[in-house]
Amino acid sequence: MRKNLIAANWKMHFDLITALNVARGMVEILDNKIETVVCPPFVYLDRLNEIFNGSSIWLGAQNMHYEDEGAFTGEISPIMLKSVGCKYVILGHSERRHIFSESDSDIHKKVISALKHGLKPIVCVGETLSERRDGRAERVVERQIVAALDGVDLDGVVVAYEPVWAIGTGVPADVETVKEMHGFLRELIEDVPILYGGSVKDRNAFELASIEDVDGFLVGSASLSAQSFKKIIDEFEKAKGVN
Ligand code: PGA
Repeated sequence: MRKNLIAANWKMHFDLITALNVARGMVEILDNKIETVVCPPFVYLDRLNEIFNGSSIWLGAQNMHYEDEGAFTGEISPIMLKSVGCKYVILGHSERRHIFSESDSDIHKKVISALKHGLKPIVCVGETLSERRDGRAERVVERQIVAALDGVDLDGVVVAYEPVWAIGTGVPADVETVKEMHGFLRELIEDVPILYGGSVKDRNAFELASIEDVDGFLVGSASLSAQSFKKIIDEFEKAKGVN
């Protein structure tokens, strides 16, 4: 059976005190069965590692450099992430691709490096609105997947389908589109868990989770509150019949 997973992507939110409070709130109320991951900004990883220790929540990072160490001012290595307790790392998020010009080849190097260091990569793929309108959605995600996972042992890899046009809008992709795109990805990567991301909220989580090829969620803004994150996980478990 494919693994189910729900990950919180806090992006660039919270000061330290707020991050600690939200993390503690999550430890208090989350008692879910499926694997749950929180990916805070780098500077909070070590403190959150202490808070999550012994809880059901795993720690993830939002990005990393592919080199182990060296003269890369401002970058964070996989060794550093491991040393502060990370199990997962989000790679190739659309904000990294589009705002910070990360290429398919950068992402490929990061995937290899993450796996080498025992980190599970959550590899994000997804088309922009204009690519979708031009009828190129499948071609784009296929290119991204093939490039990122070329020659990679897929054990431990997680993929997130995040249509760029659904991220941060409050309106997720419609069920038909998610079915189509996850079905398409499934043919390419078979047993790899495929998460959906892009405006997942408690009000739409059940419907999205009811899609067979949706194995979990990557949640942005709705993961900034422990309560709303918990509701999303509850809805997911209800839809999948996890109890
Ligand atoms: P969102 O972000 O849930 O705020 O749309 C999802 C993501 O970018 O991972």
